[in-house]
Amino acid sequence: MRPDFGGSEKTVLARQHILGAIGVVAVAIVALLAVAWRPAFPPIAPPPPTAFPRELVARGEVLASAANCDDCHTKPGDPAGAGGKPLFTRVGFFYSPNLTPDAETGIGAWSEGAFFRALREGVSRDGRHLFPVFPYTHYSRLEDADIRALYAYFMTRPAVRAPNRPNELSFPTDVRPLLALWKILFFRPGPYRPDPAHDALWNRGAYLTEGLAACTNCHTDRNGFGAEQVGHPYAGAMADGWFAEALDINPAPARWTEAELFAYLRRGDSPPHGVPVGPMRRVVRGLAKLPDDDLRAMAAYLASLNAPFAAPVEPALARATTPAPPKTDQQRQGQEIYLQHCASCHGAPGSPPTVARSPLGLNAALWNRYRPYNLLLTILDGIDAQGGLPGAMPAFRDKLSDHELAALATYLRTAYTTLPPWDQIEELVRSTRNDPLRLR
Ligand code: HEC
Ligand code: HEC
Ligand code: HEC
Repeated sequence: MRPDFGGSEKTVLARQHILGAIGVVAVAIVALLAVAWRPAFPPIAPPPPTAFPRELVARGEVLASAANCDDCHTKPGDPAGAGGKPLFTRVGFFYSPNLTPDAETGIGAWSEGAFFRALREGVSRDGRHLFPVFPYTHYSRLEDADIRALYAYFMTRPAVRAPNRPNELSFPTDVRPLLALWKILFFRPGPYRPDPAHDALWNRGAYLTEGLAACTNCHTDRNGFGAEQVGHPYAGAMADGWFAEALDINPAPARWTEAELFAYLRRGDSPPHGVPVGPMRRVVRGLAKLPDDDLRAMAAYLASLNAPFAAPVEPALARATTPAPPKTDQQRQGQEIYLQHCASCHGAPGSPPTVARSPLGLNAALWNRYRPYNLLLTILDGIDAQGGLPGAMPAFRDKLSDHELAALATYLRTAYTTLPPWDQIEELVRSTRNDPLRLR
């Protein structure tokens, strides 16, 4: 006879299963917490600005500008570094934290050790794991001296009282201890290790590009877990509704040489390729404080990633400078719009540009393999002239209807490139014009 537990055999079995499952979950949670646990750094009294040598602060300013720290840590219109900027990702909205030295709401109570751990390991002062939307996977590569300079810079900014706004993420992404598992899978912490197969210039360029400037943060697509895809760096990815072009196999028919890359990063203007637009504009602005030697090193490194053209490029180059006549009604309408609104600066079809400097036909925006986001957004919103970068262009948001913009984009694509027209262009124009995430 079996003992009677006060229920049928089925309920007893069910109870045992439930208890077993609870046990497994409890063990898993305890194990996860054990792996994930990091101690808190004790709070310090905010050091006075005089505690940091002036040269160190100045060095930190150059680095912070090149890394664009303030760009992510400033909500437009609010004081610099006070956080609160919404960052949209596939898993929801992040709101950047306050990076000013306010003791309660910023990082004023952070010791240098706590700051080091945040950049090297992605752990906050209180021991919480940080999401890789903060590019510590790159900052981990920074040398001690550079992290120290960044700390000196941020601790000497004006303190702003601004409480952090919680992220808006869905379960289970919002469970921070799970980030410990993410790190085991996708994160190898530690400073940059020079590659002996390359010279010092290349290694300096790799250090700045991969570590400080975190260029792959936008130019490399991510896997389902939000980690940059291994094996396809610089193959291009979406960034803030724009497409951060591929830098390994660039779609434009003019090659990105070391000299052109230097010109683009230094002056924001490479005659065969045009000017930076969208989020890339603030990246180039941020690099302005780096010395020429550093930008030359980055150009050397980036040029080495640029694969040779797979097919002869002459037909594409010829088409880009001698556009084909329009064939359909839509293309004819597009050409009329071009002549009316664009030719005054970009030149009549087949003639060199007048006010603009680079031939439109060579621009990567027309040659994009996937979607013409950059072309549409440039026409809709123009190019702002702030920050001393060349290339100001008026916005056409209120001048062109969706239908006209679709015709113009189709004309430019079919006239100036050897690629097929983009499909579903009307829908794309509509969604790009009204993208609520980009406008937020
Ligand atoms: C792409 C946007 C972005 C850039 C660039 C960026 N950060 Fe952040 N940073 C964030 C976000 C978002 C968080 C919060 C992540 C989270 O909630 O886990 C964060 C968190 C931090 C933290 C932890 C703050 C805290 O209260 O826990 C520090 C310190 C920090 N960033 C410093 C920097 C520095 C220094 C730079 C430049 C070298 C920088 N960040 C560049 C987005 C960015
Ligand atoms: C915040 C996201 C972001 C970051 C970070 C970023 N880029 Fe970009 N980049 C873009 C976008 C979007 C474009 C496409 C718009 C354009 O052509 O200006 C672009 C375009 C470019 C182009 C021109 C490509 C072409 O064919 O026209 C180059 C070169 C480039 N980026 C290099 C870099 C380098 C080097 C870094 C690091 C210093 C970097 N990017 C960091 C978003 C980013
Ligand atoms: C008032 C002059 C002006 C007008 C009008 C104008 N543009 Fe531009 N456009 C510029 C300048 C300047 C640049 C920066 C590149 C350069 O100097 O070559 C530029 C750049 C561009 C780019 C390249 C952006 C990049 O990624 O580098 C595209 C695409 C473009 N224009 C499309 C158009 C179209 C389409 C029209 C008509 C609807 C138009 N533009 C009207 C001045 C103008």
